[in-house]
Amino acid sequence: TLRVLTGITTSGTPHLGNYVGAVRPTVRASRQPDTQNFYFLADYHALIKTSGDPARVQRSTLEIAATWLACGLDPEKVTFYRQSDIPEIPELTWLLTCVTGKGLLNRAHAYKASVDKNTAAGTEPDDGVTAGLFMYPVLMAADILMFNAHQVPVGRDQIQHIEMARDIAASFNHLYGEHFTLPEAAIEANVATLPGLDGRKMSKSYDNTIPLFTPRDTLRKLIMGIVTDSRAPGEPKSTEGSALFQLYQAFASAEETAALAQAYADGIAWGDAKQVLFERIDREIAPMRETYDALIRDPARIEKTLRQGAEKARTLATPFTARLRHAVGLRPLD
Ligand code: TYM
Repeated sequence: TLRVLTGITTSGTPHLGNYVGAVRPTVRASRQPDTQNFYFLADYHALIKTSGDPARVQRSTLEIAATWLACGLDPEKVTFYRQSDIPEIPELTWLLTCVTGKGLLNRAHAYKASVDKNTAAGTEPDDGVTAGLFMYPVLMAADILMFNAHQVPVGRDQIQHIEMARDIAASFNHLYGEHFTLPEAAIEANVATLPGLDGRKMSKSYDNTIPLFTPRDTLRKLIMGIVTDSRAPGEPKSTEGSALFQLYQAFASAEETAALAQAYADGIAWGDAKQVLFERIDREIAPMRETYDALIRDPARIEKTLRQGAEKARTLATPFTARLRHAVGLRPLD
C-alpha cells in the first residue's frame, strides 16, 4: 500500500497556491485505491512563522481544516489530524535531531535566506533567527517519517525539505537499522509553482495571494488586478512568463489551455483574458465555497473531526515510537 502524506502550515488563510500545490492533489490521491493517506495541519510549524499571534494560528487552523473538508477530503477514508495532537511527533523530532548534521541544516533555503539577508544588511548572520527556524526541516522530517510516507505531494518550494527528510532517515537507519522509508516529493507537473498577483510565487510572505474561498466579487476584483504587460487589445500576447496564463493552466484542461494560447496569439484584450480566468477558477471553486462557509461556522464539528483523526493517527504513532525508543536504547531491547 502506497502511503501518501502532506501538511499545510496554519499561518494564514489558504490561497490558490495551497489549493493547486497541496489540497487538490491530496484529495485526488485519497480517492486512489490501495493508498493510505495522512493529511495534517502543521500547527507547530506555524509557531515558527508567526510567533506571537495565537489568534491567527487558531483562525488559520479552522480555515485550513474547513478547506480540506470542503474540497472533498473524507476523514473516514484518510487520517486527517492536527500535528500538535500527536505528542509523538516532537519526541521523534528529538530522536532525529540527534542524528542530523548541523551542516545539513545550515544549507536549508529558508535559514540561508535569513542569513544572507542579514549579511547583506551588515548585521550579525543569525540576527532575528530563532532555533525554531533552524530546526524547521527536522520537525518536518518527523512529520513524514512518523508515518513512513512513500510520497509527499507538495509544491516545488518544499522539495529541499523532503530531500533533507530522506537524508535524516538514512542517517537514522544507518545507525539503528531500517526503521524509516525514504520519502519522495510528488509534484504536479502543470502547477509546480503557482504565481501570485504580482507574478512572483504566490505566498503569504509576498502578500500577493488570492484566497481560495474569498467571495465571488472579491475573487473577480483580485483577478482583475493581476499584473500584465502593457500590450494593447489586438496586439499578440506572449504566454511565456504570463502569470495570468500560468494560473489558467493550473485550472484548465489541455484543450482550454490551448484555446487561451490561441487567443493570446490573436491579441485578446487583457481584461477579457482575466474574465476568462475568473470564470474558469470560479467554476471549480464555487460549489465548494458554500460547504466551506458552513464548516467555518461550526468549529465544534471541525474540532471533533480533528480529535478523531488524532486518535486514528496515534494508533500508529504510539507503537512506532515505542519501537524507536527501544531501537535507540532508551528502553531495554526486547
Ligand atoms: P505551506 O503551508 O507553506 O504550503 C502548503 C502547501 O502548498 C504548497 N504551495 C504552493 N504550491 C504551488 N504554488 C504555490 N505558489 C504554493 N504556495 C504553497 C506548498 O508547496 C505546500 O505543499 N513546510 C510545509 C508544511 C509541512 C509539510 C510537512 C508538508 C510541514 N510538515 C510534511 C509536507 C510534509 C509548508 O510550510 O507548506
